[in-house]
Amino acid sequence: MSRGPITVLFPIAGTGARHGFKYRPFIELGTGTFIEAAVRPFKKWSHLIDRLVFVCLQEHEAQHDVRAQIAAMFPDWPHEVVVLPAATRGPAATVARAVDTLGISGRLIVCDCDHSIDVDPLFAAIGDGVGDCILPTWKLKGEDLRAWSVAAVTDNRVTGIAEKRLPSGNGEFVGVIGCVYLADALLLSQLYRDDDAYLSDIVAQLIERGSPVAAVPIERAEFFGDPRKLRTARARHNVRIGSIFCDIDGVLVEHEDVPDYQRALRVLPGSAERLREWAAQGYFIVLTTARDAAKEAEMRAALAAAEIPFHDLVMGLPSGPRFLINDRKPSALLVSQATAFEVERNQGIQHLSISQSYPSVARRFKGGSFAETLLVEDDEKLFVRKRVSKRENLSLGYSKLKNQYRTLERFNRLSPDLVPGLYGEHDNTIEYSYDMEYLPQHRLLSECDPSERLVATRSLLGLMRERVYGSASKLGRSGREWLETHLANKIYARLDAVLNHPRLAPLVTAREVMIDGEVYPGLRELLVKVSSDDLLQLLAPSRFGTIHGDLTFENVLYFAGDVRLIDMDGADYVDAPELDLGKLFQSIVARYEDWAHSDRSLFESAQGHEVVCQYRAPDPESSLHQLCVDEWAEILGNSRDQVARKGWFFMGLHLLRMVPFRLRVSEDQALYALANGVRWIGRALA
Ligand SMILES: Nc1ncnc2c1ncn2[C@@H]1O[C@H](COP(=O)(O)OP(=O)(O)O)[C@@H](O)[C@H]1O
Ligand SMILES: [Mg+2]
Repeated sequence: MSRGPITVLFPIAGTGARHGFKYRPFIELGTGTFIEAAVRPFKKWSHLIDRLVFVCLQEHEAQHDVRAQIAAMFPDWPHEVVVLPAATRGPAATVARAVDTLGISGRLIVCDCDHSIDVDPLFAAIGDGVGDCILPTWKLKGEDLRAWSVAAVTDNRVTGIAEKRLPSGNGEFVGVIGCVYLADALLLSQLYRDDDAYLSDIVAQLIERGSPVAAVPIERAEFFGDPRKLRTARARHNVRIGSIFCDIDGVLVEHEDVPDYQRALRVLPGSAERLREWAAQGYFIVLTTARDAAKEAEMRAALAAAEIPFHDLVMGLPSGPRFLINDRKPSALLVSQATAFEVERNQGIQHLSISQSYPSVARRFKGGSFAETLLVEDDEKLFVRKRVSKRENLSLGYSKLKNQYRTLERFNRLSPDLVPGLYGEHDNTIEYSYDMEYLPQHRLLSECDPSERLVATRSLLGLMRERVYGSASKLGRSGREWLETHLANKIYARLDAVLNHPRLAPLVTAREVMIDGEVYPGLRELLVKVSSDDLLQLLAPSRFGTIHGDLTFENVLYFAGDVRLIDMDGADYVDAPELDLGKLFQSIVARYEDWAHSDRSLFESAQGHEVVCQYRAPDPESSLHQLCVDEWAEILGNSRDQVARKGWFFMGLHLLRMVPFRLRVSEDQALYALANGVRWIGRALA
């Protein structure tokens, strides 16, 4: 990486009229101009900086005398002014042109002039050589995404970037300050494409090709184009924050079947005041009515006489139902853009509240499922929101998530301290979501150390035995029937997906298979064996009730003695606790979390019905395993040996059930789940 001097480039070629018709870089702040404030923090680092470059347009030079002004403002700085003939597509093009024009190479910082940021952390990071590209970032708390490019950041690495909306990628969402460091200016000319408008498009390409892009959090900065300042400015310029469409008769004034313009409107108490309040808040008010449009002059006169405020009037509408249609904005992902209120005739709108909240997304959590889990900030409160779009498969998304909330509520009744606090659900035309308490200190049990896992599992199973599984009861049908139905619906129904894959099929169809040198019956043979009386006696559940359904260590949160369950999934309203035992074994015995998220190779060889695994699950932590078997012996009223076999058997069934989903990751993952399903069911039945 080059260690040469740094060029600092300020694009001042924008034509944006945010601040009226003034040329932004020269707007006076009281302590100097915008551009002087932007340059000031670099002074301390001038020994590393070779020159400042300013890029403006010919029209700016003509109107504002840019060269001369800059020379007067920065007498101590070596600098150059590049004058471009005409406006470019956007900031990326402006910078790329300037770099070409001056033949700039080596280290480059590009910095906007509508802020003055503390660049010390940036220079520290440059000194440490943390990346080919370094982005100073800003907490988005309370900011309006429309004014930002947004990055997803994990461990100071930028994993995604987008303009005015949330990027894909997990991690914390932060605002990218209009400032970029590039280890080599040549990257710009190499990566710039004609359709790139923003520098973030170029950064996105760097991320895509795997170059290290680092984030440096900035704590101190002053933004002149700051959205809040912008908001105040907008309010000053009468920029509206939303629209209200409001009916007249029966809503604002006493309903008249046949309007009589000779008589004054009888305004319902408080209604005109309410409209005035909304107008003052910045809403644009459109009155809508079925009254005859031919009488518009009379209507306007009557409204004026009644002192009902409005900005526009639409007359002659049908008197039938009215619908409001609008799209959800990517820059305000959680803010509803279409709302309707129906009120009772002649009751007035005095008590109608249209209060709108503006929640923002602080981060996206990594999860294993169909749903999106977000950390949301609203009015200084943080909470977790899990959401699904209704655009995709409804039974896989919407119904599942709604069911998950029902189960969380059930757990909340049975054992409130075992789940996060629940804050309610939202169901509208485009999405379903529910909100819950954010547990900032808790960690997934899969990420805790063995001693914590032991404490947590003991406490978890104790509570589950007493409060949840304790209410299990016998069902109308026998455990045998339940097991047969379970196998038919959950296992046989998925085998087709497996049989279509030549690498997977032999483990199902062969009479015998060999896994890591041990011989087991093939899956078909195994499943047939299950229907023998002895094995049914051994494996079929006898009591049914509330269960978690996906009780792996990835769905248990733990901190300092406190265990919370999240992400209930896949269980029926009343189901067999053995399914939870199987899921716990999936974490403890099959070490699912170890292999399912890694792209290491899982096999030494896999041919036909002979499979040799490269990844072998280490023996279970013995005290944890023993604790688990002991507790489950209590829960199920079974011997320890029977618990171990049930654990292997139901874990095996879970491994088989996941094969079609693992196939979407890779054939190796699917084969690994299948082979281990066969192995553990084989052991359970032996
Ligand atoms: N209440 C919460 N407090 C803190 N973190 C949470 C909370 N709920 C979920 N998370 C985080 O979000 C991740 C995904 O949540 P989860 O419900 O398991 O989603 P998925 O269905 O995608 O697996 C969890 O692994 C955890 O890191
Ligand atoms: Mg989960």
